[in-house]
Amino acid sequence: MKIAIPGGSGQVGHILARHFHAQGHDVTVFSRTPRPAPWREICWDGETPGDWIAALEQSDVCINLAGRSVNCRYYAANRRAIFDSRIRSTRLLNRVMASLPRAPRVWLNASTATIYRHALDRAMDEATGELGGREAGAPDTWNFSIDVATGWEEAFFDTATPRTRKVAMRSAITFSPDRGGIFDVLLGLVRHGLGGSQGPGTQFVSWIHEADFVRAVDLLIACEEFTGVVNLASPNPLPNADFLRALRAAWGTRIGLAAPGWLIEIGTWLMRTESELVLKSRRVVPGRLLAAGFQFQFPDWPAAARDLVSRWRLRTSRN
Ligand SMILES: NC(=O)c1ccc[n+]([C@@H]2O[C@H](COP(=O)([O-])OP(=O)(O)OC[C@H]3O[C@@H](n4cnc5c(N)ncnc54)[C@H](OP(=O)(O)O)[C@@H]3O)[C@@H](O)[C@H]2O)c1
Repeated sequence: MKIAIPGGSGQVGHILARHFHAQGHDVTVFSRTPRPAPWREICWDGETPGDWIAALEQSDVCINLAGRSVNCRYYAANRRAIFDSRIRSTRLLNRVMASLPRAPRVWLNASTATIYRHALDRAMDEATGELGGREAGAPDTWNFSIDVATGWEEAFFDTATPRTRKVAMRSAITFSPDRGGIFDVLLGLVRHGLGGSQGPGTQFVSWIHEADFVRAVDLLIACEEFTGVVNLASPNPLPNADFLRALRAAWGTRIGLAAPGWLIEIGTWLMRTESELVLKSRRVVPGRLLAAGFQFQFPDWPAAARDLVSRWRLRTSRN
């Protein structure tokens, strides 16, 4: 297959490009600053048509991941960039895709599990999950993330692309042992004795192991029944305190300083990020994947954490 990945130079794009490249598929990443890679990287700006259209037209599959990282403080300029980069690139692809005589047969667009409400009480699947936004007492940053996610999905679905099937991937945090990835950062806290529960510790963490993420993407590409929104998350989200306890056990330590809410606010400010990323309860489950018979290789966090830690150790011992 020929696979185009706009915005594929980041964490998730790297996981997917590596997977498809290893399977012998022809991978082309669209980047604002193409770099040498085992696959092809070509230039686009995410805003205007260009030579990249020829590569898109020849592709069987498009997986759009473009968007300014949300790992920053939500100041006005960052909010604008987070929102605009996602909406503009998705609208551009829609305009181009609708005009092509030969378009990719399937387009997977990134979305996020953050679109669901802060959920402590029950799990959110695609059919019965409730979207968040303006819940009483919800911080403004949480509402902002939901506005981004809903605007992004609207921009994706509002144009008909008769030759192209569309799926919005409501992904949970995708964990791989790669350098600089989210797992690397989280394990860094554990390694430095800071991996205790965060805030109340009762808020749920939704997550997916990279092996299941790429297998789920394979299924979404292969299976014509998938259109619309699909949750990509392990079937077993768990409270933050249990999540970190299992990660400490996988690393081999019992010590982890717990961080109350006020310390999380200071810590995330120092790390130039937002407390929403750890304090909002994401209790998201993969209803449609399970209904299609998808078998998770890592359904439970303790086994996933052990695998990620051992592969992280292997990677760092080689450096
Ligand atoms: N990581 C996760 O676990 C996770 C979970 C749920 C949803 N998502 C979503 O999935 C997508 C990929 O995630 P990721 O972790 O791989 O993100 P990432 O590492 O930040 O990569 C996103 C890519 O988007 C491109 N980009 C950044 N700013 C842009 C702009 N202003 N205009 C156009 N392109 C821009 C960048 O590529 P160039 O600089 O090369 O152009 C970057 O490599 C994101 O949209 C994210 O919100 C991720």
